[in-house]
Amino acid sequence: TLQWTDAAAFDEVPQDDVIGLAVGGRDIALYGVDGSVYATDNLCTHGHARLCDGFLDGHEIECPLHQGKFDVRSGAPTCQPVTEAVRTYPVRIDGGRVYLALG
Ligand code: FES
Repeated sequence: TLQWTDAAAFDEVPQDDVIGLAVGGRDIALYGVDGSVYATDNLCTHGHARLCDGFLDGHEIECPLHQGKFDVRSGAPTCQPVTEAVRTYPVRIDGGRVYLALG
């Protein structure tokens, strides 16, 4: 079974945008897309850049450093130069709070 960690208020997650925050000692990026929330590691898998400083377009986050892209739903790379997926986390929304399964 999944262990859920309280990450943020649902209202804190901007729609069509991304925020970075520390959850359970990890640097996490939260994305608001179409009323849903997605979570990934905040650090890009290509270099030392935080995805929360990037640009969210639909379900795609563009890294601010070399403009690599990931699909925030799967973490899959969608544009060079990133080739390695970014880790994603299951999200649950309950009582106006956003919970993550950090595993
Ligand atoms: Fe993200 Fe290079 S550090 S694309």
